[in-house]
Amino acid sequence: MFKGGNIGVFDSGYGGLTILKEIIRLLPQYNYVYLGDNARAPYGTRSFEVVYQYAAESVRKLFEMNCNLVIFACNTASAKALRSIQQVDLLQLDAEKRVLGVIRPSVEALSRFSRNGHIGVLATRGTIASCSYPLEVEKLYGADRFKMTQLACPMWVPLVENNEFSGAGAEYFVRKSLEELFASDAEIDTIVLGCTHYPLLLPLIERFVPAHVKILSQGQIVSESLANYLLRHPEMEKNLAREGKHDYYTTDNAALFEHLGSVFMGHEIKCNRLQIC
Ligand code: DGL
Repeated sequence: MFKGGNIGVFDSGYGGLTILKEIIRLLPQYNYVYLGDNARAPYGTRSFEVVYQYAAESVRKLFEMNCNLVIFACNTASAKALRSIQQVDLLQLDAEKRVLGVIRPSVEALSRFSRNGHIGVLATRGTIASCSYPLEVEKLYGADRFKMTQLACPMWVPLVENNEFSGAGAEYFVRKSLEELFASDAEIDTIVLGCTHYPLLLPLIERFVPAHVKILSQGQIVSESLANYLLRHPEMEKNLAREGKHDYYTTDNAALFEHLGSVFMGHEIKCNRLQIC
């Protein structure tokens, strides 16, 4: 009997659900295992070494859970750990398996969005400090095509992790960061939400962004990029299970994850607690 592998989707917490939701919408036939490392979130304020350690442990766990392919639905892990995991850990763990991130597909999509080349990147401190977005942009398009303005929004992930989307507190921090971004470059015509938690604040973000500015959130981009990857890699695609199963795991409180996760996914989910190490 054919018993294929799963696609793992990993984030520090709830943010990766914004990616998983779009992936399931586009590719409902595969089996998905979502892992939120809520017990150790946020990642965005942690050092390179710590994010790498947490991400590598999570990949190992997802491989043990029969995932052939893992998507880092987390910019911070993509910025700080992806390259080392692809170049070092994969060879030791299982050279047939793959780990993909969210930054490269987002940068590839920029040329479809921006008309004047002025881009704002909002992300965690870790992602901003890594300069992954400007570096990837330069690699792909050269130094002159885009003017990148980066801003860390360290208060936004705690708002999401605590289910604070619309109150006065959330409004204060969202407005403050966006005012700061446009004060740095008033010509920005495209904003990258470079943290997978941020789309959960989208209704609020849209209130403080001029109507002509495009907001690039990663769910659709990453799901299209995954579909394209599977087309280009039939050896991976043919080894994936197709039962349309979705399993959710958190390293913290499963009941809380079920509650908030159901709100974010728009339907009820079941979640189990998982100990990573
Ligand atoms: N959702 C993650 C990201 O895209 C990380 C948030 C955090 O844990 O700080 O960067």
